[in-house]
Order: sequence, then C-alpha cells, then structure tokens
Amino acid sequence: MADLTLSGKNPTSVRADALVVGTCSTSDGVAVVADQLPADLVRQVETLAPRLGVTGAVDEVRTFPAGGDVKADVVVLTGLGERRPDGTFAAETLRRAAGAAIRSLAGTASAAVALPAVDEDELAAVVEGALLGAYSYTRYRDEEAAAKKKPVATVEVVTSFARSARAKAAVARAEVLAAAVHGARDLVNMPPNDLYPAAFADAARNAVRELGVKGVKVTVLDEKQLAAGGYGGLVGVGQGSARGPRLVKLAYSPVKATTRVGIVGKGITFDTGGISLKPPAGMPAMKSDMAGAAAVLHTVLAAARLGLPVAVTGYLCLAENMPGGNAQRPADVVRMRGGKTVEVTNTDAEGRLVMADGLVSAVEDGHDVVLDIATLTGAQMVALGTRTSGVMGTDDVRDEVKVAADAVGEDFWPMPLPAELKAGLKSTVADMVNSAPDRWGGMLFAGHFLKEFVGDTPWAHLDIAGPAYNEKSPYGYTPAGGTGVGVRTLVGFLEGRSQA
Ligand code: BES
Ligand code: MN
Ligand code: ZN
Repeated sequence: MADLTLSGKNPTSVRADALVVGTCSTSDGVAVVADQLPADLVRQVETLAPRLGVTGAVDEVRTFPAGGDVKADVVVLTGLGERRPDGTFAAETLRRAAGAAIRSLAGTASAAVALPAVDEDELAAVVEGALLGAYSYTRYRDEEAAAKKKPVATVEVVTSFARSARAKAAVARAEVLAAAVHGARDLVNMPPNDLYPAAFADAARNAVRELGVKGVKVTVLDEKQLAAGGYGGLVGVGQGSARGPRLVKLAYSPVKATTRVGIVGKGITFDTGGISLKPPAGMPAMKSDMAGAAAVLHTVLAAARLGLPVAVTGYLCLAENMPGGNAQRPADVVRMRGGKTVEVTNTDAEGRLVMADGLVSAVEDGHDVVLDIATLTGAQMVALGTRTSGVMGTDDVRDEVKVAADAVGEDFWPMPLPAELKAGLKSTVADMVNSAPDRWGGMLFAGHFLKEFVGDTPWAHLDIAGPAYNEKSPYGYTPAGGTGVGVRTLVGFLEGRSQA
C-alpha cells in the first residue's frame, strides 16, 4: 500500500512527481480549488479551461506541466463538480476525486495531494480516497508490465490539520481500511484455477498470520467434517467439483467486547451454475462470486487491527459450483444444517444454499446480530444497477447498515421483503424450493429464503452482486475488476455498534 504522510507545507513547495489539486464548476466557469497555488497558474487554468478541456466535472482528471514556483513536475486537476450551497464538498466527492487522481498516476512514484478539507472528517475522506485509488493487481503480469501499472508509492497530503491528533488517527484508520479493501479486491481478482475453497481457507489462515493480528482464531471444516456436521447446502453445492467445499470460521473476541456480531459471506470460488449451467457470455465474471466471503475475511481482520471492542465472527461459505459427474441435480432434496430440507429446483441458485448453512452456524453461536453479504442475484442488478447494493432484513438492522454505508460512502439501498413472495418457497416434496416459480423480485425472494434460516436473530442481508465486480471502466477510487465493496460498510457497522 502507498506510504501516506500529512504535511503542513505550502503545496507549491512539496517535492513530488505530481501535485494534485481540485477543480470545480461554477456559474462563471471553472475554478481551481487550492488557495496557495501561484496566482498566474490558477489564472491560466481558469481562463484557458474551455480550450484545455477542463470543466471541473466529477471524475475528470487532467494533467499539465507545472512550471512557475511549483516544485512538482506536473499538476493534476481532479474534478469536484459543483460546490454545495455552504461552499464545501461532500466527503464522498473528495474521496472520489482523490482516488481518481491517484489512480490516474499509476506508474508515477510520488504525489502531493492538496484538496480542500474544512475539518478532519473531510481530510480523512481525502486520505481514504488516495489510498483506495492506489491499487493495481499485477500478480500475473511480467515485471515490465507490472511497473507501468504500479500504484503511486508515496503520497503526501497537504493540510492545515497535519499536526492534529485526530487527523493522525484518521490516517491510521484509513490505512487499515484501505489494506482491507485491497485484500478483498486481490481475492476477487485472483483467477479461479488458483483460488478454490481450500486455497481460500489457506489464504485466510495466512492473512491472519501475516498481519500478526492478535486474538483472531481460525477454524476450518473440510468436506468430510461438513458432511458429518450435516451442512447439506455446502456439501450439495460442492459435490460437483473435484475441489471440495470448506466452512471457515474467524473469531475475533476481545475481552472488552460489549456486543457480538456474526457475519456470513458467500464464497463460491467459481459459479458455472452447475447442471443448470450458465451461458458462456457472463461466465468469466463468476470468479467474483466469492466477493462476500472476501469482504467478511478482511472486515474481521480490520476489526482486530483497529482493536474494536466488538466480538466479531466471520463465516466463509466456500464451494465451487461445477457440473461434475457427482454434481447435484435439479430436483435433489438436501438437508441443511439445523434440519430444514430444500428441493434444489435450480442448481444455479447455489449461493443461498451455502449461505443457509453459514447463517444456521452463526445463529447457533449466539450473536446479538447477524449480517450476511453475498453476490447473490442477477436480480439485484436489474433492480438497482451495477453500483448500488441492496440491503434487506429486520427493519432496524437493515436501516443500521444503510446508515453505516452512507457514512463511509458506499451505495446501499434498503429493499423490502414483501410477504406475498414467501408463497414462492413452497415445494411439493421438501420444506422449500431454492428457486422461485417466476423471476419477479428475485433479489427479494432470495432474501426470504435466507430469512428461513435466521430464526429470531436480528439480521440483515447485503446483496452486492453488481457492485462487487466492475466490468466497465474504473471511476473515482474504484478500479476495474474486484472493488472490495462491503468492507467499509461492515467495518463502519461494527464501529457504530462499538459506540452504541
Ligand atoms: N452468482 C449468481 C448471481 C450473480 C449474477 C452475481 C451476476 C453477479 C453477477 C447467483 O449464484 C445466481 O446464479 N443467481 C441466479 C439465481 C436464479 C437461478 C434463481 C440468478 O440471479 O440468475
Ligand atoms: Mn449461481
Ligand atoms: Zn452464485
């Protein structure tokens, strides 16, 4: 991760390859948002803006030779859009602008960032955005290609709060958060031939060891133990693959804990659909079907590194959904952990099967609240698009997730669990089917299915199918490929609980 420092210097005097400043659009045209820059540079940019193609729009990044008194070689202008009525910019606007600029500087060694931050919260957003934007996945590229994409290594954020203790604490928190998001992105980007359930379990063990986080206990159940323990969902989904399923439990239990939270993650390391095989076109993206589990792993690690006074247990439901000779058939009936039976009418609705076992396991362990996060349904994208995740569940927990998401700048939207959709669960041979008779409200139906396994425990379900994996161009601090979505919302949720 990039090495980040705060500096109280004048931005012009910072030695770096690039100096990042903001632009915004006003009724009089473009304005450069940095008070301490040389006036002639500011005037040049502002008067030549139309010819330079600078509008100040969000996600617009333009680079120019610096010149004048500026010690950096180039100036990077990053768009902040329009000012709010009070003259400031939203935290997420700053996060995205910092991220977009740092992302555009990949292949450059150092950058100074001078974006407006009126208080430590805004400064935290700038720092987070810069660190989140300093990411690339180069593990499978040769050295030369990797160097070209190498993220900025050192970032100096110019601020009047450089000496503030709150600002320093914000940097420390941002470093933990960004490392967690990067860790989740890395797992999502990893090719599925190398990331299979047992490899994911090993990665979880290694991540705990490497980070040297104290007090996180890892338990792994393999396919034999899962069969013996009655985890029919994980066993059924996993049996079509030569590489068996795993259930990984990660328990962080600080002595000072005031509340206990369980978080279940969908970890389908590849989803072919099974016998209900998917069409080829969208299939490569199904390496991202473990993004929920990746978010859970790195949330638990972040909670431990931040020393949050909350007991958190992560449950990673890991399986590969393959159509092998022993694969489950559409019409099979499986018995889930806890005893409920499910008629598997569609083997491509596998996520809810592995999640049911994980949820039952979490409920058995007795938490105050259980969350789950999964790339569960294509219907999520039909309903909300590719950048907004859905959240369902017990009303107050659902709303608590929404509040946490808003605070960290992740787009989540509350969705209902309409009572009439429950009828679709009816099976002629088992307690329920895994796939609805029609496609209407598919995200909500999946929510109803999961609800069957949480009993009275306060619960929320986060469907991140679209936002977990960016198949389009990068934007803001969001790269192409794995996005790490969910990590910051989950950590924010835990922080909220620890203050309550
Ligand atoms: N992993 C998919 C959901 C998904 C689709 C995630 C696209 C990300 C992008 C899930 O296992 C799935 O296949 N769901 C089916 C359910 C259906 C068979 C009831 C779907 O959404 O089509
Ligand atoms: Mn599927
Ligand atoms: Zn899936």
